[in-house]
Amino acid sequence: MALKLKSAKKLFIFLGKSVLALVETVVFAIIPKPRKNVAGEIVLITGAGSGLGRLLALKFAQLGSVLVLWDINQENNEETCKMAGEAGATRVYAYTCDCSRKEEVYRVANQVKKEVGDVSILINNAGIVTGRNFMDCPDELIEKSLDVNFKAHIWTYKAFLPAMIANDHGHLVCISSSAGLIGINGLADYCASKFAANGFAESIFLESFAKGQKGIKTTIVCPFFIKTGMFDGCTTGCPSLLPILEPEYAVRKIVDAILQENLYLYMPKFIYLMVFLKSFLPLKLGLLLGEYLGAFNLMDGFTGARKKN
Ligand SMILES: NC(=O)c1ccc[n+]([C@@H]2O[C@H](COP(=O)([O-])OP(=O)(O)OC[C@H]3O[C@@H](n4cnc5c(N)ncnc54)[C@H](O)[C@@H]3O)[C@@H](O)[C@H]2O)c1
Repeated sequence: MALKLKSAKKLFIFLGKSVLALVETVVFAIIPKPRKNVAGEIVLITGAGSGLGRLLALKFAQLGSVLVLWDINQENNEETCKMAGEAGATRVYAYTCDCSRKEEVYRVANQVKKEVGDVSILINNAGIVTGRNFMDCPDELIEKSLDVNFKAHIWTYKAFLPAMIANDHGHLVCISSSAGLIGINGLADYCASKFAANGFAESIFLESFAKGQKGIKTTIVCPFFIKTGMFDGCTTGCPSLLPILEPEYAVRKIVDAILQENLYLYMPKFIYLMVFLKSFLPLKLGLLLGEYLGAFNLMDGFTGARKKN
């Protein structure tokens, strides 16, 4: 009897909390969530030397954050540092760091802790793409993709999460990709690295939730192609549903998601439907939809990585 009462109570609490969560979701779908203040927060951005990383740095500069910029490319990173200063950042620090190398991440992270302080918003943004068919991709490049796009996230979490836990205050941002949700022809190593990054970020979110670490937030960002140069030459088969995004638009949405402490951001919105459809459409229908959307030829014409690798 006591056992039955206990499980009935558990069920009622679960139902009550679920209704509250649903109401909250509906309310925030109608009125925008309040945005948090990030002035004075120490924001570390990896891959800050170009593309999204640079634009994110400029946005957080305008919001009054202290900026820590990491990139493997010293010259570009210093240029971002200068631009962030011009955009209003009062404290901005540039560090050259190859975040695919664990020891280098730990060394530069210690330097940051001594010279700047505890990072409270960590944005894992650095990324590379090989853009080759699996069998044409040399082992070193496959390893590099996994090291930069996924393993770097592990090392930066190891370096900065302890202080976030101690302060019960922090935000972990994973700049992943829609290629971390749905496999893409011609992007096997990239997809593997992004699926791994998603799974890792989601699991650490659940770990902190289970431990009651309410002050630690997570945002996982999964965009379709963005015009930063990384996927130069790629085309979309269906521009109305899957447009190639403008970097400024993408960064505005990413910053909004961080300030509103949203767990997921998929862009464009059609990606939410694709993920939903993927879980229950029969394979044949899914493949037909993929064909209709031009999803099998996305990488035709790709020139992005050839400039870099
Ligand atoms: N551009 C897109 O279409 C697109 C779409 C979805 C997701 N993304 C993701 O967004 C993120 C940013 O991409 P972007 O479009 O701004 O690309 P980008 O090439 O303009 O910027 C990537 C930055 O990462 C830096 N970087 C590369 N390897 C590094 C390393 N080992 N250590 C430190 N820094 C390193 C580069 O120097 C560069 O400044 C990436 O993670 C990418 O996978 C991009």
